[in-house]
Amino acid sequence: MTGSQTRQKFLDYFAARGHRAVRSSSLVPADDPTLLFTNAGMNQFKDVFLGLEKRDYSRAVTSQKCVRAGGKHNDLDNVGYTRRHHTFFEMLGNFSFGDYFKREAIAFAWELVTKDYGLPKDKLYFTVFREDDDAEELWQSVAGVPRNRIFRLDEKDNFWQMGETGPCGPCSEIHYDLGTEAAEPGREHEQFPDDGGGRFVEIWNLVFMQFDRDSAGRLTPLPRPSIDTGLGLERVAAVLQGVLSNYDTDLIRPIIVQAAELFAKTYGEDQRTDIVLRINADHARAAAFLIHDGVLPSNEGRGYVLRKIMRRALRNARMIGATEPYLFRLTGFVAELMRDAYPEMMESVQRVARVVKDEEHRYATTFQIAEKFFHDEARSGSISGAASFKLYDTYGLALEEQEDMARELGITIDSEGFAQEMEKQRSRARASWKGAEKAQVNPVYQALPRTEFIRETLEAPAKVIAVLNGEIVLDRTPFYAEAGGQVGDTGVLVSPSTGDTLAIVESTYSPAPGKSVHKVTLVGPGIREGDTVLARVDAHSRRATMRNHTGTHLLHAALRAVLGPHVKQAGSVVEPARLRFDFTHYTAMDADELAEVERLMNEQILVNREVHTDIMDLDQALSTGAMALFGEKYGERVRVVSIDGFSKELCGGTHVARTGDIGICKIIYEGSISAGVRRIEAITGEGALRRFQEAQAQLSRVAGIVRASEAELAEHVEKLLLREKSLEHELQQLKNKMAQAQAGELESQARDLKGVKVLAARVDGFDRQQLRTLVDSLRNKWKTAVVVLATTEDSNVAIVSGVTKDLTSKVHAGRLVGAVAQAVGGKGGGRPDMAEAGGKDPSALAGALAGVYSSVEEML
Ligand code: ALA
Repeated sequence: MTGSQTRQKFLDYFAARGHRAVRSSSLVPADDPTLLFTNAGMNQFKDVFLGLEKRDYSRAVTSQKCVRAGGKHNDLDNVGYTRRHHTFFEMLGNFSFGDYFKREAIAFAWELVTKDYGLPKDKLYFTVFREDDDAEELWQSVAGVPRNRIFRLDEKDNFWQMGETGPCGPCSEIHYDLGTEAAEPGREHEQFPDDGGGRFVEIWNLVFMQFDRDSAGRLTPLPRPSIDTGLGLERVAAVLQGVLSNYDTDLIRPIIVQAAELFAKTYGEDQRTDIVLRINADHARAAAFLIHDGVLPSNEGRGYVLRKIMRRALRNARMIGATEPYLFRLTGFVAELMRDAYPEMMESVQRVARVVKDEEHRYATTFQIAEKFFHDEARSGSISGAASFKLYDTYGLALEEQEDMARELGITIDSEGFAQEMEKQRSRARASWKGAEKAQVNPVYQALPRTEFIRETLEAPAKVIAVLNGEIVLDRTPFYAEAGGQVGDTGVLVSPSTGDTLAIVESTYSPAPGKSVHKVTLVGPGIREGDTVLARVDAHSRRATMRNHTGTHLLHAALRAVLGPHVKQAGSVVEPARLRFDFTHYTAMDADELAEVERLMNEQILVNREVHTDIMDLDQALSTGAMALFGEKYGERVRVVSIDGFSKELCGGTHVARTGDIGICKIIYEGSISAGVRRIEAITGEGALRRFQEAQAQLSRVAGIVRASEAELAEHVEKLLLREKSLEHELQQLKNKMAQAQAGELESQARDLKGVKVLAARVDGFDRQQLRTLVDSLRNKWKTAVVVLATTEDSNVAIVSGVTKDLTSKVHAGRLVGAVAQAVGGKGGGRPDMAEAGGKDPSALAGALAGVYSSVEEML
């Protein structure tokens, strides 16, 4: 049975039993920052199990793309060395959301495995959770499994949970006995469940979902007991295809063969080469699927893991002699191989290839250097802590990557020494950072108390705490201090008694966490410490800024909806006049994508959703899927700004109350700022209105000038341009005719020297091109001739000279023109038969031309 058939049989079996066939979700978990990659079929149903989300079906079946290469389930280091470890694999699963439970789950699994897949019953073993009497009983009564084939195991093996928190429950596994030939040599006698080193393979895990685990470890019962199962496609395919290794199934072996061909090697001849081929087959699958799903190689988060996987493939390939980029071919091959089950892979083949190829080039440059360094060091038999740290710090080679390389060479790394170097570096950094902080924060501010920020109003009385050198500190203030991309507020400080302005606030900033400083220009009688002032933010500017800030959140969410979840904020500026948003994305956006992003944003504006803010624990915020910025430091308690059903971000900025307050949002710029990072600028509210009005005014003006209605403007301008083109053409023809006519006149000026027609003349009103045409036509007409023509425009002189071929051995056009050019303060030259030059002194031209005749006569 092929891998494809195995997959299809599973889907069909459960579809025929009332299960909705649901597409595999993306490898990038939707709105789940707690999870690096999708690592189980149940991920996309997490909220359904928890009762937070309702679907219109209560049974489902999927074939889910999974990657386990980081986080809780991490198999990367073993890949290539074993028969069954993968970074990328497919998990087949059936699910019940409060519908059937253990009895049916066990009955389905038994029937599919023994009938549809036809596996012999006497090769199957079963495990249940230590306390699960039900499951043990059901395997016997429903499936007729003898008692001695059922084993009770502990939490470690038979209690499944998605992560530290989330849905979980006891589970029951089906194992298959591959026979003694699969056991490690010398361990053939070992019996299940004391695994004989590869003899028994777990094929199916049935999880009886019953609890939700919270961060304190407490188990709360789920609304209704549910079923989540996972059958490893590659494993069951191996069993059904009668091979011991997943890598020998038709799901992976063809990729190995393809890789072997690219490396000009044969699989099965040399152990080291085989490992490299398996690593490459596995990693090509992971890279193809991850990049397809929007992950890009980078130095952090998901992108970093992808980069690590790709580099591991490339490094290993290099060790068996691969020097040219090849991985991009292999990922293309993966798409082909998987096209039956994942036809969408074919759509991204080009894009994936480009990303992979880029990474291959990058690797080739940086890592060749690092690798050479590593191999030089390795000659001593081990890598010192200092060397290892240099590889990490200077060349960006993670310690685990080095360990991987060391393992491949059979040497060791002084990881303790590495840790010491790392600690030294940290304390150096701490010391210098502290220094920097001290240098920056004026000690005066350090001594001052924190400023209370008043969010709710734009005007409030406050006490003056300090007046320093054009800066004022208040005990509380409605002025927002620049942070998170949002500019600091402007406004005034006024006297509460007289209403007179005391200071103009030019900007507000935060010199240290929790402290605000107003940069001011003092007016009137001045301000003293202890005074009470009325702090009044420029409401007009601030409201414009708030529109742009909420607009930024809409833009971020809309970009993710249109381009994909790989879009991540890389920087932003929010001011009254506009918003600027930098984000990760690989290619320029096309007009359709921009229009769709704009449409989505304005749709949210029109439905006028409430923008609400909640203060909560960081963990809680992240677990509800709020978007956080990588590299940003957040406190324990965070503000979460949400636009229901559309956007949720951690944010300390100020926002409008409802999306409708934004009025309208218009994108005015999209461009690249660095590799993989794009920038969008947009305007909202009044700014957008002004923009529309200006654009409209321009349009009217242009329509007026060309005398066309606005509706016909484009067509009209096109016509005008066409007409201009044809007029230019006509003009050129006329000029050519004139030149011909002049040629007649010039004939009379030509002299006959030793049987050669020689002409040196000034012709005005010609451009260079026409001059060349004229010289050419005279030459052709006279057959044996020397012609030098010059023209002047403003104070520039252009000279062209032509000599018929029969004379070029005596008269060189280039030298001739050079001599004239020199006389008029320029230079030039060219071929013996045709040359051009320029000059700057028209007054010397007549003399220079006259001199041509005598010099030509001498040459002839
Ligand atoms: N979610 C279960 C697993 O991953 C089925 O094994």
